[in-house]
Amino acid sequence: MNHFHRKESTLHCEGIALDTLADQHGTPLYVYSRAAIEGAYTGYERALAQHDHLICYAVKANSNLSVLGVLARLGAGFDIVSIGELQRVLAAGGDPAKIVFSGVCKTPDDMLKALRAGIHCFNIESEAELDMLSRVASDNGWVAPISLRVNPDVDAGTHPYIATGLKDNKFGIELDSAFDLYKKAAGLPGVEPIGIDCHIGSQILDIEPFSEAACHLAALVDQLRAAGIELQHIDMGGGLGVQYESEAVPPIADYIEALTRPLGAHNLTLILEPGRSIVANAGVLLTRVEYLKPSAHKNFALVDAAMNDLLRPALYGAWQDIVPVTASGAEVACWDIVGPVCETGDFLGKSRDLPLTAGDILAVKGAGAYGFVMASNYNSRPRPAEILVDGDSAHMARAREPLDRLWLGESPLPGAQL
Ligand code: LLP
Repeated sequence: MNHFHRKESTLHCEGIALDTLADQHGTPLYVYSRAAIEGAYTGYERALAQHDHLICYAVKANSNLSVLGVLARLGAGFDIVSIGELQRVLAAGGDPAKIVFSGVCKTPDDMLKALRAGIHCFNIESEAELDMLSRVASDNGWVAPISLRVNPDVDAGTHPYIATGLKDNKFGIELDSAFDLYKKAAGLPGVEPIGIDCHIGSQILDIEPFSEAACHLAALVDQLRAAGIELQHIDMGGGLGVQYESEAVPPIADYIEALTRPLGAHNLTLILEPGRSIVANAGVLLTRVEYLKPSAHKNFALVDAAMNDLLRPALYGAWQDIVPVTASGAEVACWDIVGPVCETGDFLGKSRDLPLTAGDILAVKGAGAYGFVMASNYNSRPRPAEILVDGDSAHMARAREPLDRLWLGESPLPGAQL
């Protein structure tokens, strides 16, 4: 079900008109649908009903406390990559015993804090990190539960910046070395291998690479079992890609089948770390058209959101749909939708056929994942506000950043005349 829909030609999020939200809270403004987040999460729950499983939402996709709170109430686990994310999950009421800690470079201090919190598992990315965790844990009288993140050298067929399962990528432990490292881990005092992990990339729309990766991991689980190392879970990393434009997204049941078939008779709990597919299409970014700048050569619509608010188009050349919130009477023309930041790479969309007039509110769709979380203060622009809509009510999930927060913690040089 689509929770962004038109009523009398005005785009709504659940029961609330988006132009009303823009008027009340200003733009740029992120708006999320609680029902859409819940629907996407329960879609995974349903597809996994026949398997022992734990869904650990990837916090990096959208870490607003309200979003995390919605998921915590549904019983979700969480995949974190920093202590900041750990603290957010705890602040939102998440269960530390359902947290997995990913990330390629955890410091001893990160390890200690996560051990104190009592997380479910550390996903280890190198021998050096394994040694460090064993030392940190045993020095403090703990034994840390671990998985090794294996790099299965599988091409996920996604944007090179977000492909992570190839030998060339910085992530994970080479498949060929993983068996020996598990044997070493089993003998270390501060760690206990409880699982195996991989993550081959994001925005993956082809099921084959998932299945290939699962086959590699299942073979390793067999080898380990024969050597007396019994694992309890297999973590297959992030979730399915989403539809931004006309991409065909495979049915979730086919994806789960591709992951579970290679596991055969293994009685392993399946952990997944979906992020994008839970929140991307549960959010839009609202922006106002400030000026129209048509020319014989090209038409530019200058809007009040920029690459600092939504980086994906500038960074990956990502395409996200842009639609007017209310239908204006203007004629359709071809526009580049560009922001106020002083870079030519600052665009939200190029060559879009839209009926625009100055003052229109536009919605950039698919903005719930990797949107606000990647926002910055570049050009000294405060980050947008975030609203979580729940039926007919709008919850201020994050207030617009006040201007004086921009230099909080900075110190002007002492002395008046320098
Ligand atoms: N687990 C790990 C270890 C990850 O690195 C990621 C994403 C996920 C789970 C979640 O994957 P998902 O279900 O969202 O595909 N900023 C980029 C996406 C970066 C993804 C990084 N890792 C974008 O805007 O497309």
